[in-house]
Amino acid sequence: MRTTLKMVLPLIVSVAAVSGLFAWYQVRTERRILRNDLTRRAEILGEGLQESVEPLLDRAPDKNLQRIVERFAEREHLKGAAVYDPEGRALAITPGIAATFQYWPEAARNAAGRDANQDEFVSDLRPDKTGNEDVLALHIHAVPLHRNDELAGALALFHDTSYIDVQVAHTLRDSLVNALVQTILITGLALLLVRWTFMRPLRRTAHWLRTLRIGGVSGGKAPPGLPGGEIFDQLHQEVTHLARDLNMARATAEEEARLRDTGASLWTGERLRVSLRNKLHHTPLYVVSNREPYMHERNEKDGSIRMIVPASGVVTALEPVLLACNGTWVANGSGSADHEVVDANDQLRVPPDHPSYTLRRVWMTDEEDRGFYEGFSNEGLWPLCHIAHTRPVFRPEDWIHYQRINRRFADVVLQEMEGTESPILLAQDYHFALLPRMVKEARPDARVAIFWHIPWPNAEMFGICPWQRELVDGLLGADLIGFHIQTHCNNFLETVDHAVEALTEWDRFAVNRHGHVTRVRPYPISVAFPEIAPTEQGNRSAGAERAAICEELGIEASLFGVGVDRVDYTKGILERFRAIERFLEQYPAYQRRFSLLQIGAPSRTDIARYKNFLDEVVAEAERINAKFHTGRWKPIVFLKRHHTHEEIARYYQAASVCLVTSLHDGMNLVAKEFVASRADDQGVLILSTFAGAARELSDALLVNPYDVMQLSEAIHTALEMPEAEQAKRMQWMRRVVKEHNIYRWAANLLSDLTEIRIEAAERAEARQTQWPGHAA
Ligand code: G6P
Repeated sequence: MRTTLKMVLPLIVSVAAVSGLFAWYQVRTERRILRNDLTRRAEILGEGLQESVEPLLDRAPDKNLQRIVERFAEREHLKGAAVYDPEGRALAITPGIAATFQYWPEAARNAAGRDANQDEFVSDLRPDKTGNEDVLALHIHAVPLHRNDELAGALALFHDTSYIDVQVAHTLRDSLVNALVQTILITGLALLLVRWTFMRPLRRTAHWLRTLRIGGVSGGKAPPGLPGGEIFDQLHQEVTHLARDLNMARATAEEEARLRDTGASLWTGERLRVSLRNKLHHTPLYVVSNREPYMHERNEKDGSIRMIVPASGVVTALEPVLLACNGTWVANGSGSADHEVVDANDQLRVPPDHPSYTLRRVWMTDEEDRGFYEGFSNEGLWPLCHIAHTRPVFRPEDWIHYQRINRRFADVVLQEMEGTESPILLAQDYHFALLPRMVKEARPDARVAIFWHIPWPNAEMFGICPWQRELVDGLLGADLIGFHIQTHCNNFLETVDHAVEALTEWDRFAVNRHGHVTRVRPYPISVAFPEIAPTEQGNRSAGAERAAICEELGIEASLFGVGVDRVDYTKGILERFRAIERFLEQYPAYQRRFSLLQIGAPSRTDIARYKNFLDEVVAEAERINAKFHTGRWKPIVFLKRHHTHEEIARYYQAASVCLVTSLHDGMNLVAKEFVASRADDQGVLILSTFAGAARELSDALLVNPYDVMQLSEAIHTALEMPEAEQAKRMQWMRRVVKEHNIYRWAANLLSDLTEIRIEAAERAEARQTQWPGHAA
């Protein structure tokens, strides 16, 4: 109550002050109006009296003059009247004022002196000794008098103005009463509003925060609901972030304490931050990739700008690392509104609601994009590295663009690195094979790593590329090259042997080219295993989520399979659909029960192969649906659009089985995301043996996606799997993903990179003696 009073006291004072001001203004206006009115009336009367008196001035003062004057004085509020000679002596005067105004007042003297009407308000008149004067306030209107066009004195009308004071006093009283009532009403209402609109929600927010602080939520209970409302939405957003951070920090601390206790060690964002701070001594981290972590798109319809997180394994993996380490991420600004949200240096801080690192955008023309991104990267290198039987296309003009864009990105990276001693660069993927050497040549003190997110084929396959030598040479500019699995490292070393002149050291997986040593290592990439289990964040159960999704999509099914992919010919989407068809034929009992929800983010659609593939996928889904569907049930629900991480998380939660059937994949993070999201230990993962993830997730049902029968059987096995078996497998896989999470990936890679720096110095010395001929 005291707090409420404290909050409304300034309001009371302000309302009272404003009301008082109004009252004062009203009184002043009232007084002015009444006085003007009186003056006007006096003027008319004065003229009348003047007309009657002036003809009588020719004669000596007589009773007529006195009679006229007295008759005039009978008007309302008129206290009296007088006629004065030029010396100021009263020639005729009404009795009521005779005692005080025998001699003319100032107004009359002025009227005679200036030959003009005069008005005067006189107050504080004291009664004379005889007590005749009981009037304390008068208005005197004086009019000059003429005789034969010469001034012959003045007449004066005396009005009693006490009625004005009485009226003004009434007005003042009414206004003050009004002001008082207003102050009471407004303050009362404000008090109520404050209590209802602010105090109650604030109290609930405080209660909510307290519940979080004392650990009510981590005890498994859902957090108490937060009050809604526009005013509070922003505050809630902030408080929610704060609470989430707090909860995460607590979960991390608890987890670390638990692991310390069991002797195990888990990498968390916080641990990575601390570890890098110690290892890198505040040296900033630079990341370069083609795909940016946040794209800004303009909505054609309403002109608004929407921010999206693109569907990309690189983004999924790198974002948590940047969040943990700050740093600068250099990437291609490819969103339609990207230009509009950067500063003069083409930079912006991201994520928008929790700015933690800098995104530096690099621009490309449409032609460059066609040559660098669509052409060389995705029609050349992508099919070259994936065994998916799509022929790579290498055009000389695309190669020119590829070199030019690598140079542009290298220059931007070098510009960003200016002033930083021994910077650390993590280059990403097949778009930037030439960049490591470009950076290293300009900044030998930089420690450069490149991570290849897709498979590396065998030397024979890679030899198809007309520029294999340049690509391998560019990569060997790095101090460290990372692949997902050992096989890709082996393939790379073989390719080096075939393509360039260098010393490959198989015993320690390093390449020495012209005295520069590049290490080649497997780093299986991963996801940030959520430190707070989704169920603790208030998620629905699998069943409830399934029902909600059915409702939203207007479908009917009691069992879901889920597939999440960019629509890419390497992902085995058609094989998956055909396996569903076969499964429903083999096990008709699952018809009208089981549906595959296939999230398909259209990808690289300006490339004919991708556009055609998207059409093929749609057609295949329609063909199979036409064969089986009844009522609101259909075997394949193809959701052809980009979905946010939050949306996808709901599908993972609702699914009985997740299908990852890539024909060839560097790692595939969907498999790991699904596992990480299933805190309920339920659900089965079907995983292609041709995805890098299969090396770690051996408790998935491993399949050859080309084998439709095997895949269809795996779906059946998954759907029939007892809950205990599901839980056992899921727990194992969760342990693997949790321990080998993205923070461990970054920590391993970056700590190897820092070690190499020391070795590189040693090698430089050795080079002087062993490889004098290659020192150029
Ligand atoms: C793969 C590549 C990434 C790429 C992603 C999405 O995961 O390794 O570098 O970002 O696909 O493809 P996009 O062409 O849309 O960037």
